[in-house]
Amino acid sequence: MPALTNIGCLATCAAGAGQSDAGLVRNAALAWEGATITYAGPAVELPPRFRSEAADAGGRLVVPGLVDCHTHLAFGGWRADEFEQRIQGRTYLEIAAAGGGIASTMRATRSASSVQLLTRAAAVLGGMLALGVTTVECKSGYGLDPDQELRLLRLYADLAARSAQHLVPTLLAAHVIPPEYRDCREAYVRLIIEAIIPAVARERLARCCDVFVEESAFSVDEARRILLAGRAAGLAPRLHADQLSASGGAELAAEVGALSADHLEYVTPGGIAALHSGGVVAVSLPIATLYLGQRPMPARALIDAGVAVAVATDFNPGSAPSWHLPLALTLACALQRMTPDEALKGATLYAARAVGREREAGSLERGKSADFAVIDASDPREWLYYFRPNACIETVVGGVTRWRGG
Ligand code: NIG
Ligand code: FE
Repeated sequence: MPALTNIGCLATCAAGAGQSDAGLVRNAALAWEGATITYAGPAVELPPRFRSEAADAGGRLVVPGLVDCHTHLAFGGWRADEFEQRIQGRTYLEIAAAGGGIASTMRATRSASSVQLLTRAAAVLGGMLALGVTTVECKSGYGLDPDQELRLLRLYADLAARSAQHLVPTLLAAHVIPPEYRDCREAYVRLIIEAIIPAVARERLARCCDVFVEESAFSVDEARRILLAGRAAGLAPRLHADQLSASGGAELAAEVGALSADHLEYVTPGGIAALHSGGVVAVSLPIATLYLGQRPMPARALIDAGVAVAVATDFNPGSAPSWHLPLALTLACALQRMTPDEALKGATLYAARAVGREREAGSLERGKSADFAVIDASDPREWLYYFRPNACIETVVGGVTRWRGG
């Protein structure tokens, strides 16, 4: 039975403890059979029958396979021009109002071929795999009509069939109102509810349904209707909430029983209390915070209130043009005052919870999928402190080594 011994620090990220407890075990071992973990704990207690095929981790850190629980993986084009415009003083909303922003990526996505979209997304997944990312949530949201949204989700189904990682597709038809519906927004809301959600559910193309709740996107009332329609069709609600202003997104997330509320730079004390009582995961996206020059999400207040805070990249061409999850973790520490252990738990167990995969992924515990990464560091603190292009030296998914570095 395969095993890994001489692990200097095993971060199990086991469920049951609080965010600050990453379940660190020094001098540890890990064993698995097929795709499933059979042992995770002190090396001295590793049962002898697990020692026959043991590899040596060289005293390094081993973490659960990272879960990027919020990405906009497939899109056409880039928006470097807007990056420069924001540096020069234009705001994200001004650029969007002038026809840029999400609408500009919608145009580039609609005109890209499926092969182009797929090739680029596959390359990104390969890069993520080398960083130790073994589960990736991927949103539609740049098609913004029935055919194009379904095309993006079918493309994710193709990618899932061929990629090393676990993919979790999310419908985000409610990203913004597309330009052709600007003067009849109600018609687009009804199109989502009456056509897009039923088609996605019929083909089982998504696990979650997301809405961008913001003055420039969807109102709380519109979002409620869309999320409840999605929920009735079997799609778990998630929200882009309180990113640019306090817009009631966190409260709505709790009301509809969402898996997560994401961004939350402007969450209010009432919103924090609602997330806690609703058991909603707060997903922090510090790369977007940095690129948009926003104030940081109040992670300390959320954690102190008992809310589980996940961390993800938000990879997209506008607000977060990076898929580097360890970078997001380092930023969560530096900008949001999360400890390295808290950040790690946010990109493993709590991220798996945010995408509805906590039973299978997110921690190194008996019975879960043998997804893990070997990191060239002695513990999470040293890993996230010393920022490098890549500290991961091996990525294992379902018990199989899918990437090995130098
Ligand atoms: O998560 N907030 C909405 N959606 C994205 C930005 C998308 C874009 O600008 O293209 C986000 O930040
Ligand atoms: Fe996003």
